[in-house]
Amino acid sequence: MKRDFISILDWTSEEIRSNLDLAVELKDQTKEGKCPHLLQGKTFGLFFQKPSLRTRLSFEVGITQLGGTAIVLTEQDFKIGERETVSDVARVMSRYVDCILIRTFSHQMVLDLSKHATVPVVNMLTDFNHPCQVMSDMLTIKEKLGRIDNVRIAYLGDSNNMTNSWLNIAARIPLDLRIGTSPKTLPDMELVRKIQEIGISSIKVTHSATEAVDGAEVLYTDVWASMGEKDKITERERLLKEFQINSILLQHAEKNAFVLHCLPAERDKEITDEVIEGRQSVVFDQAENRLHAQKAILVQLEKWNQV
Ligand code: CP
Ligand code: NVA
Repeated sequence: MKRDFISILDWTSEEIRSNLDLAVELKDQTKEGKCPHLLQGKTFGLFFQKPSLRTRLSFEVGITQLGGTAIVLTEQDFKIGERETVSDVARVMSRYVDCILIRTFSHQMVLDLSKHATVPVVNMLTDFNHPCQVMSDMLTIKEKLGRIDNVRIAYLGDSNNMTNSWLNIAARIPLDLRIGTSPKTLPDMELVRKIQEIGISSIKVTHSATEAVDGAEVLYTDVWASMGEKDKITERERLLKEFQINSILLQHAEKNAFVLHCLPAERDKEITDEVIEGRQSVVFDQAENRLHAQKAILVQLEKWNQV
């Protein structure tokens, strides 16, 4: 049966947990030079409407390591919704490829694409969320802390697709999630309430960076102006400067807290150069884990598609 990975909420807690176990297994096998060719003969169509380093490369490399073929398309090839409708694109691509992966602005467009596609659809980032990133982040936490449950995570800075992804994972895995942001950059409070009502995680939104970070085991941040809204950076710098991850703020966290950033980073804005280069930063392990976590996601979708 066709299943998608458009949001963390598409998968159950059990499915997420077992997929992280599969990612660990595939990572070990890959490190030993024995990555199984589980996607032999399968072709993946990746469509990008926004720039990417990690997502594009990790998916292309991962698909190659698993024996599959990746074909990348960009806006230079076609303009989705302009040259032809989303539903036509979905139906045409489904006749050629075994899975469609998309990075775009509109989350609704990805949902529409899925509705008309007969193959699995993977969200490689929308303005609303970035589920592949948060799966890789959970894999990194699992490796570094030896557990994923009830982790104290401070998410600092702008409320964006990463904030929403953290809120979504908190609906599947119990977390102590503290969001530190300004009153003018609040997350979607409707979503916050919905996740609080699900009741498995503790979610706090605070305007005090130190309160968010107090005793945290993981500190997380992302750029203050996401792709498509770079014109807002001056205003965001003014609103969010207190939420910068720097060595003084880090002192409020647990002694050996880890610092994560999905990258790309704007050094000395949301995070200082000193912290991102410091001993508590694991951002490059985190970036590597995009490769392993996403391989597991594609293998799982392919398995479901066979049933
Ligand atoms: N973190 C992330 O998605 O990076 P890219 O935008 O380079 O793909
Ligand atoms: N919030 C960032 C994430 C980049 C990986 C953006 O959407 O630009």
